[in-house]
Amino acid sequence: MADIVQRYDIPKQHTWLHGPHTGKPVEFDAGAGMWNVYGFHEAQEVLGDPGAFSSDTMRIIPKEMLASFEDFSLEGFLTQIDPPEHGKLRKLVSSAFTRKVVADLEPRIAEITRELLDAARERDRFELVTDLAYPLPVIVIAELLGVPASDRALFKRWADALFQREAKVSLNEPDAAAEAEVQAAMKPWREMSGYLQAHVTERRRAPRADLLSLLVQAEVDGERLPDEQVVNFAIILLLAGHITTTMLLGNTVLCLDAFPEQQERVRADRSAIPDVIEESLRYFTPFAAVGRSTMREVELGDVTIPADQMVMVWLAWANRDPRQFADPAVFDPGRDPNPHLAFGRGIHFCLGAPLARLEGRVALDILLDRREELRTDPDDPVQFIPTPTMTGVRRLPLL
Ligand code: HEM
Repeated sequence: MADIVQRYDIPKQHTWLHGPHTGKPVEFDAGAGMWNVYGFHEAQEVLGDPGAFSSDTMRIIPKEMLASFEDFSLEGFLTQIDPPEHGKLRKLVSSAFTRKVVADLEPRIAEITRELLDAARERDRFELVTDLAYPLPVIVIAELLGVPASDRALFKRWADALFQREAKVSLNEPDAAAEAEVQAAMKPWREMSGYLQAHVTERRRAPRADLLSLLVQAEVDGERLPDEQVVNFAIILLLAGHITTTMLLGNTVLCLDAFPEQQERVRADRSAIPDVIEESLRYFTPFAAVGRSTMREVELGDVTIPADQMVMVWLAWANRDPRQFADPAVFDPGRDPNPHLAFGRGIHFCLGAPLARLEGRVALDILLDRREELRTDPDDPVQFIPTPTMTGVRRLPLL
């Protein structure tokens, strides 16, 4: 097996890639003041019980830590909402963001991929993230929403400011540094809201053939979404729509570099691409963790978690639980079934999963056609994103 830790200099905070979990499936981290769920079955239990494990994690964050959030609204922020509101909002946004809307994008995804690879040919170095994995999903989601893809430098600045940090999240001792982090995140957030609000206002006035127009017009039981909710949903799409898929593309190429026999296999039989994508999602889980808060005292694994506690569900660890996945450190696209949790589980299951899978499938197929070999450059190392809850590369030079 390839020793991926040394080979790619994987950051120490990505503990799930550094060897098997030696502790219990559920543990309390006294230092951070929160619970960690590492086991597959326990993770499934949490995600399947929104009544006990709420997605509204803001309600238990100490007030002092939220001082800068006073004028800030998470109204309509789908990932943070519980039933029954969640179901209603999800139905509304799903009525605009349908499987057909996504499936129809296939030719355009292929076209953008080819254009990006053509442009990269003019340069003497091929760096997967800058040349393909970042721009492709951003252009796709921008075109889908109806905001100018040419503004993508702006989206990248906002996304980087919000997501790229090295510090571990802690609920203990809210200090000046934590406050400064929150403050630093608020500025890009406000800019992003203002930008999208301007587009929403414009669509209310003059709808176009884009997702923002569908969202402002979407109706369930005679109700429409207020602007604030359309803006917040558009923010989720813009952020989730590119960061995670960028990670998926980079991670998949990295898996094929680390396991060259799998690269040969999929080159010869392209019908295996969807399985390669699924196994990449398990092996390098892009969103390593999702948060929940306990609504009441709950039993989980062999522990009792009191009410109003923060629970981190480690999807990346669950996806490497040997009780569920045999030889979890082996990249094996032949796993059948492969019930990984990379897109979550239950009512919050990733709404963008069909789009992410489609982009991954189309881009990998074209990449395999265009490049005889996908191989990293030993003299120009891969760089991982340092954020402790994400698994992905921010630089992936290929030979
Ligand atoms: C939810 C992962 C791509 C939109 C989620 C969740 C995960 C996830 C784990 C569940 C969060 C939770 O339970 O708290 C991923 C991964 C992706 C990806 C790994 C790519 C490889 C996308 C894309 C979009 C998207 C491309 C949209 C364009 C959403 C939305 C939700 C969500 C709207 C919220 C669903 C809800 O709360 O009901 N995603 N995602 N995601 N994702 Fe994705």
